[in-house]
Amino acid sequence: MTSVDAIDLRKALGKFATGVTIVTTQGVGDQLVGVTANSFNTVSLSPPIVLWSLTKTSSTLSDFDHSGRFIINILSTDQVHLSQRFSKPISDKFENVEYSKGIAGLPYLHDCVARFECKTLHRHEVGDHILFLGQIEAYEHTHLEPLLFCKGQYAHSHALN
Ligand SMILES: Cc1cc2nc3c(=O)[nH]c(=O)nc-3n(C[C@H](O)[C@H](O)[C@H](O)COP(=O)(O)O)c2cc1C
Repeated sequence: MTSVDAIDLRKALGKFATGVTIVTTQGVGDQLVGVTANSFNTVSLSPPIVLWSLTKTSSTLSDFDHSGRFIINILSTDQVHLSQRFSKPISDKFENVEYSKGIAGLPYLHDCVARFECKTLHRHEVGDHILFLGQIEAYEHTHLEPLLFCKGQYAHSHALN
């Protein structure tokens, strides 16, 4: 491809349906950090390795680099407001948000569909994003319904079989 219409490419890529996560960590000054991300995916089951990517312009990049750890919080259909909140540059995203501390002291959000507590294995600079690969050290999951995201809109699953 020589010239790409960025808006059209984004529209095409957005046709791939994903879940929605909030990736959390403990920041440089021990503050609570979280960012909405749908770039999450599984890489390996044995050992258990996942990935996600963060835009280089995120104010949280130094926090994820500093902590060397992250928690993937998979959102439920009742958590659209959290996805919206954690995708905005708000100074205290955790205000009035229920959370606890995980095995390494990182914050995780209550009432999520699943949680994966990870140690960063690799960090790669890829284009305008930083790709994080992490090994799962602890996890939990529930029977809640996962929130979906496709074509720029939130959705919930409707099983076809
Ligand atoms: C559904 C959804 C998915 C997103 N996925 C990502 C992602 O995978 N990586 C990323 O860097 N930003 C993603 N964003 C944008 C970030 O959430 C947003 O830029 C960031 O949280 C802004 O906060 P900050 O300035 O504190 O970094 C997503 C936003 C939404 C609404």
